[in-house]
Amino acid sequence: MKDLKILFTEEQIQDKIKELAELINNEYKSEELITICVLKGAVMFAVDLVKCLTMPVKMEFIRLSSYGSGTVSSGKVHAVDISLPDLNNKNVLIIEDIVDTGHTAKFLMDFINNNFKTKSTKFCSLLDKKISRVTEIEPDYYGFEIDDKFVVGYGLDYDGYYRNLKYIAYS
Ligand code: IMP
Ligand code: MG
Repeated sequence: MKDLKILFTEEQIQDKIKELAELINNEYKSEELITICVLKGAVMFAVDLVKCLTMPVKMEFIRLSSYGSGTVSSGKVHAVDISLPDLNNKNVLIIEDIVDTGHTAKFLMDFINNNFKTKSTKFCSLLDKKISRVTEIEPDYYGFEIDDKFVVGYGLDYDGYYRNLKYIAYS
């Protein structure tokens, strides 16, 4: 990707994470929360978000992929590693980098709700590309709505690269 332009700075991202954490802290109060970070894209967001949470937290990680390579969603969600502990009766918060078509979010919500009777299952995404949505899924929490741009940085990749940027950019 050439001539990357910054969409959200490191400061904007960190401020937004504090806002989201406040909402989440108010919602769950002192109840235990199991966060499920969707690797690899959500790793930066999940790590920064959980540091701002005040309830007892257990972090889980699963690995999914939907994009093959390039910038177009395949629509097919591939579970690379979805081993999870018993989530029955737990408050579960799925943490994602971006909801695009919504296939990944729907797959995950269905997977959790079909396999466990959780106390609650909610979805938190840093970015929401609402315009590309083809499923009925809506994140319970999201940081920024963006239009139909392919973005990289802060966990989001193009062909595996750019995840390490502190900001989010497009070309
Ligand atoms: P969905 O299943 O189409 O909603 O796609 C969700 C997944 O596609 C996300 O978890 C991302 O990993 C990836 N993705 C969607 N849009 C972008 C983007 O603009 N940049 C990088 N990855 C993206
Ligand atoms: Mg992802």
